[in-house]
Amino acid sequence: MATRQYEVVAHAIAENILQGHFGIGSKLPPERATAGQYAVSRSTVRRAWRELEAMGYIMWSDQSTPIVVRPPQWPQRVERSAAGRLAYDTSPTFLGDLMQAAVSSARYNFEIGMPDPDLLPIQDFQQILRELFSYPSREVFGYSPTLGLERVRRAIVEEFIMRRGFAVPPANVLVTAGSLQGLDLLTRLWVRRGDVIVTESPTFAGALHVFRSHGAEVIGIPIDASGIRVDVLESSLRTIQPRFVYVQPVGQNPTGVTMSRERQAQLMAWAKKSGVPLVEDDAYGFLAETGAPPLSADAVGVPIVYLNTFSKILAPGIRVGFLTAPSDLIRQLVSLKQLSDLHTGTLSQLVAEGWLRQGRVDAHIQRARTVYGARLKTVSKVLKSVSELTPFAEPSHGFYVFAQLPAGISAQRLHNRASERDILFAPGEPFSPHGDFSQWIRLAVSAQPTAQIETGIRRLARLIDDLL
Ligand SMILES: Cc1ncc(COP(=O)(O)O)c(C=O)c1O
Repeated sequence: MATRQYEVVAHAIAENILQGHFGIGSKLPPERATAGQYAVSRSTVRRAWRELEAMGYIMWSDQSTPIVVRPPQWPQRVERSAAGRLAYDTSPTFLGDLMQAAVSSARYNFEIGMPDPDLLPIQDFQQILRELFSYPSREVFGYSPTLGLERVRRAIVEEFIMRRGFAVPPANVLVTAGSLQGLDLLTRLWVRRGDVIVTESPTFAGALHVFRSHGAEVIGIPIDASGIRVDVLESSLRTIQPRFVYVQPVGQNPTGVTMSRERQAQLMAWAKKSGVPLVEDDAYGFLAETGAPPLSADAVGVPIVYLNTFSKILAPGIRVGFLTAPSDLIRQLVSLKQLSDLHTGTLSQLVAEGWLRQGRVDAHIQRARTVYGARLKTVSKVLKSVSELTPFAEPSHGFYVFAQLPAGISAQRLHNRASERDILFAPGEPFSPHGDFSQWIRLAVSAQPTAQIETGIRRLARLIDDLL
């Protein structure tokens, strides 16, 4: 029941909108006229407008008269079809929150894993874009083949994949809109409701969201400081044939763990024996020391799909990733990609190619390794001096540290309290295949200077103390 003046005015205007007195897209009467009509002050009118905006009836920026928009709800409930299903336990709002964190101005933002904006090669981008604008516009702004532009795929092989220690024919590279799209396409193709997918536990929440949305049963295999426990994998899968095993070899999201060479060899031997495909997500592989290649570099006789992305090495907003697979699989994935977006943005692909070809990739990677390595060291140092957060591992690669809270503290509750104090992090549960890790948090430290990391973590520790 509206009791305050501004609420009464807001509800009266909303009623007028619902009755069709103001058409969608039309302007509301100006502030002075509205104030006169309802015999209220102009500031009350402005509060009423703010209320109407929150209710979803108008769009309003302070300087203008509000515009009526289509109300956000349909009049009656529309049933979801089976085809429109969503993950049942990884809430879509978790990924939504992460994306929102990307544009948050919170002082201590440990929520989203993205490259440090200071590492963005802005001058290179300017030069690449200047050159692109001198091309015939059709080549830059037109449609392009679903597989990806040939020159881009060639550059990806020569300048990206070969830096990871292997090579494939450019025809076996599919350029995707980020590697999450690659995971979605593969799952759509291979997985039907009830099929099993095996992942590390914990693992990348976005992958879990995709897998479950396609109806997969996810079995998580624990990891330790050397990577996935292949002994547990072997014993757990004696009677189960999963569709594939999803792993990250370097700087695993969320634990930061890098798989040891020995563990890689065990996993490859298991895959060879079992014939179960491996899906290798090498998003943080560029941060590994030279000479620490991914599984794919050794994948003779093992069915393996390799995924990577420009999101962590360069810029997530350009939405360019890729996967490599055998030709018949690529053909099927291309058909599926056509259903979803026809092709990855031509301009974005050419920017990625331009960056790969401008001759400064090695220097960029070296700088990224130094910067992120120093940040991880800072986190380890700070965590040793606060007793409230116990790290899962002491990572030397990647963007993340995964840490356990003291007994009795829920990560979600802490998240809500911390965000009020300008500290953001990701609660652990969405990274869990089995709904555990509710007392864990993921700290993404890639985009925070070391001083900020120190202060932010100490403040977080104090907040945990307050909750204990
Ligand atoms: C392991 C892993 N794979 C894939 C992605 C998604 O990256 P993209 O932006 O390429 O879709 C992320 C992003 O956090 C990730 O951590």
